[in-house]
Amino acid sequence: MCGIIGYIGDKPANEIIFEGLLRLEYRGYDSAGIAVLDNGKIHVKKDLGKLSHLKELLLTDFGSHSPQGIGHTRWATHGRPSAFNAHPHGDSAGTLMVAHNGIIENYMKLKNRLIQSGCVFSSQTDSEVLAHLISINYSGNLEEAVLKALSEVEGAYAIAVIHKNHPDRLVCARKESPLILGIGEGENFIASDATAILHHTRNVIFLENLELATVKRDGVEIFDLSGNRVEKHIKQLDWNPVAAEKNGFPDFMLKEIYEQPQVIRNTIGGRTSEEEGKIYLTELGLSGPDIFKFQRIVIIGCGTAYYAGCVGKYLIESLVKMPVECDLASEFRYRNPLVDSHTLVIAISQSGETADTLAAVKEARKKGAKVLGVVNAKESSLTREVDGLVYIHAGPEIGVASTKAYTAMLTSLTLLALLLGKIRLTLTPEFVSEQIRALKILPQQIETILANHEQIKELAQTFMNSKNFLYLGRGFNFPTAMEGALKLKEISYIHAEAYAAGEMKHGPIALIDKDMPVFVIATNSSTYDKLISNIQEVNARSGTVIALCSEGDNEIYNHAHHKISVPNVSEILSPILNVVPLQLFAYYAANMKGLNVDQPRNLAKSVTVE
Ligand code: M6R
Repeated sequence: MCGIIGYIGDKPANEIIFEGLLRLEYRGYDSAGIAVLDNGKIHVKKDLGKLSHLKELLLTDFGSHSPQGIGHTRWATHGRPSAFNAHPHGDSAGTLMVAHNGIIENYMKLKNRLIQSGCVFSSQTDSEVLAHLISINYSGNLEEAVLKALSEVEGAYAIAVIHKNHPDRLVCARKESPLILGIGEGENFIASDATAILHHTRNVIFLENLELATVKRDGVEIFDLSGNRVEKHIKQLDWNPVAAEKNGFPDFMLKEIYEQPQVIRNTIGGRTSEEEGKIYLTELGLSGPDIFKFQRIVIIGCGTAYYAGCVGKYLIESLVKMPVECDLASEFRYRNPLVDSHTLVIAISQSGETADTLAAVKEARKKGAKVLGVVNAKESSLTREVDGLVYIHAGPEIGVASTKAYTAMLTSLTLLALLLGKIRLTLTPEFVSEQIRALKILPQQIETILANHEQIKELAQTFMNSKNFLYLGRGFNFPTAMEGALKLKEISYIHAEAYAAGEMKHGPIALIDKDMPVFVIATNSSTYDKLISNIQEVNARSGTVIALCSEGDNEIYNHAHHKISVPNVSEILSPILNVVPLQLFAYYAANMKGLNVDQPRNLAKSVTVE
C-alpha cells in the first residue's frame, strides 16, 4: 500500500526522503515521487517504476539544497500506474503539493465541482481532489485550509502537505490510514510507519484518527479536526532498526523464515510457568468471569492471518470445548454477523492496519461483542480498537509474504487456547505443563527443518515449472495446506489450490493427471490412515505426490514419490512445524524463477483499503 514520508530539518530533504521511501518499499508500490520546497519554489519529480530505477531522477539536480519536502510510494487504486498518477499531486497554480494514502470515496462529486470552478486536473486519481480543495480553501492559513478541505471528504486518508508560502512547516492529518511523527533534534519527520524513520529517531508520536499536525523543525503541534489543540505523549520505540534489515540474507523473506526459531522463543518468553502449568497473557484485558460468560468465539482475519485463525478454531475447539467459527474479515463485516455480548471475537493481524479487519472489529463491537486482538505491530490502529491484546512478538515483518508472523500467530493462539482451557477448567495443569514443554522444543525442531533446506531446494527445482499444484491436508493441517498454497501462488505465481483431503473426491480429483503435483500434509495425526487413502487416490490417477511426513515414517515411501520429513510433534502443535517446509518450497521455487520474493507483483504488505 502507499507509503508517505515527510522531512523538515537542515539536511538535504531529497536524500532523507528517498532513503525513507526505500524503507517503505516493502509495503508494495508501482510508482514514486518527491516534492521539495526550495527558496519559495516547489519542485516535484515522480515516475512509474521501482526506486532502484528512479534513484537518478529523484536524487540528481533536485532538492539537494532543500531542507523540507514530502515523498510517496503509490499502489494504484484509482487510475493506472503512471507518472502523472504518481504522487505528490499539486493544485492548478502550483502553490502546494499533497501526498495521500487511502481512498477519497466522494472524489467524483468533488472533482466535477472543482472542474466547474476552474481547477485543472492532471491525474486520474481520487487523491488530486485534496490538492485543489486545500488550494481553494487557502487564505493565508495552511492548517485552516486543510481542515476545511478534509471536512468535505468522505473515505480514508493519511496526507502530508507542503505549501510555497510556508517554508517553516509540513502539515499532515489522518483518518483510518496510519501516520506517525518522528521527533528528532532540530529536525522532524512524518511517516506511514516507523520503519521509515527508525534510523533517525526512535521518538515518535502516533497520530490518532481525525488529528492534524503542524510539523516544524523545532517542534510539532497537534489538533483535532475542529482545530482544538491536543496534547500528545512522545513514545520511545524499542524496535531495533537492524531487525528491519537483511542481515546477510539475500531477501527479507528468507531472513524471516530463518528467524522463526527465535521468534517463537520471543512469543513464548516470560509467558509460561512449566512447573505450575500456567500461562500469563498480561494484556488480555479479560477477567476470569468474562471468559466464563462467553458462549462462542468468532475468529476473523485476512489472508495468512485468516489461515492462522482456522488453526485457532481447531485449537480452541479441541482444548477449550467451545464452539468457534472462523471468518474472513471482508465477509464478516458485510454479513450482519450474529454476535453479541456473549461472543468473544478474536481479530488476527500482523500489521494491525488491514482495512477489512479493522472494519470487522468495529462491526463486532457495535453489536456488543468483546474483541481480542492478536497483533504484531505495536501501537497499530487495531491495538486501539480492541478490548484486549495478545502481541505475537514477531518483530518487523518486511517480506510481503507473511512467514514468521504466521508461526508467531499460531504459537500465540496455542498459548491463548491453553489459558482459556485452564480458566474454563477443560485442561489440567499437568496437561498445560506438558504443552509448555513441547512448545519450548519447537524452536530446535524448526532449526532441524531449516538445516534440511537443500533437499527442499532440490524439490523446488524439480517442480518450479509446474503450472498447477494441489495442496491437501486434514484437520489441524487443512489450514497448513491453505497457507502453503497461498505462499506458492503469491510469490512464484504458480496456480495452487488447497483442499481438505477428504473433499478431493467430490470434484478436484478430476484435475489429477501426470502434470499435477500434489503436496500432501501427512504427518502423524488422528487422520493419518485416511490421508494415506487420499494419497492412493492421487496415485491411481498418475498424479505426483510430495508427502510431508513425520520423522521415521518409512511407510510413506510406499505411497509417495517424494517425501520431506519433519520432527515428531503432537497434532495440535504440528501446524507450527509443518508450514516451514512449505514456506521454503515456495521461496526456492520463486527464487529460482528469478522473481522478486519480497515484493511480489500486484501485492502490498499492508492492505489499508477495502
Ligand atoms: O497485516 P495482516 O495480517 O492483517 O494482513 C493480512 C493479509 O493481507 C496478509 O496475510 C496477506 O495475505 C499476506 N500477503 C500473506 O502472505
